[in-house]
Amino acid sequence: MSHAVIELSNISYAFPDRDNTLDGLSFHLHEGEKLGLFGPNGAGKSTMLHILMGLITPDEGQVTLFGAPMTDAKAFEAARLRIGFLFQHSDDQLFCPTVLDDVAFGPLNQGLSAEDATERAAEALQTVGLAGFEDRIPHRLSGGEKKLAALATVLAMKPEVLVLDEPTTGLSPEAKARLAEILKGLNMARLVVSHDMDFLSDTADRLLAMRDGKIRPGELKPHSHTHVHEEGDMPHEH
Ligand SMILES: Nc1ncnc2c1ncn2[C@@H]1O[C@H](COP(=O)(O)OP(=O)(O)OP(=O)(O)O)[C@@H](O)[C@H]1O
Ligand SMILES: [Mg+2]
Repeated sequence: MSHAVIELSNISYAFPDRDNTLDGLSFHLHEGEKLGLFGPNGAGKSTMLHILMGLITPDEGQVTLFGAPMTDAKAFEAARLRIGFLFQHSDDQLFCPTVLDDVAFGPLNQGLSAEDATERAAEALQTVGLAGFEDRIPHRLSGGEKKLAALATVLAMKPEVLVLDEPTTGLSPEAKARLAEILKGLNMARLVVSHDMDFLSDTADRLLAMRDGKIRPGELKPHSHTHVHEEGDMPHEH
């Protein structure tokens, strides 16, 4: 049996003056597992990810990362260097004066030299299709460009596990297809939250759903539909 890299046990959390958003939630991600998580808006998916990253402290329950119980902020700080976390809102991820600074920030934090961090950053930007964006100002990028730059910050860390919150929002079909290929080429465990069921089915081994503040196995209902491509022929079925 492989080890759990992320384990949440019996997590409950309520925002101030609200009912429980998470209610006795348990979850684990094992080494090499590729999980997709979906659920309605406001179900608590992002809240769960913030709890597992140590950005929100749960009212009840235990977070265990890489086998170590996260008992204090220091434990989370160390674990965070090993997890590539993509925020749902890219503006939460990009805060440096240039795109290169943002993407090099993680590797620098991990202790790489300025030269090595810059090399990692350039490589990650190339991977996501943003070569040449090094000197651009992050907050002036388009929505999709911001998402890709944020993804580059995550990939540049060469993390041991990926936790991605809505990685496809705002991406064009080409960028989304490239992201799917990037993910499929990566072997590390990952948890991807998305409303894009096609993307999840394409990139995840197993799907989970969030319901009533808990995680349940997702039900996939195969179906076909008619659609049009941006350029091309008549509507058709796949
Ligand atoms: N800081 C906050 N204070 C109060 N309520 C909050 C706060 N952040 C989130 N919420 C509420 O908690 C609930 C869960 O939010 P969360 O962002 O986790 O949902 P989600 O499943 O990620 O939704 P989406 O699919 O829209 O991203 C929502 O009802 C949201 O309005
Ligand atoms: Mg969310």
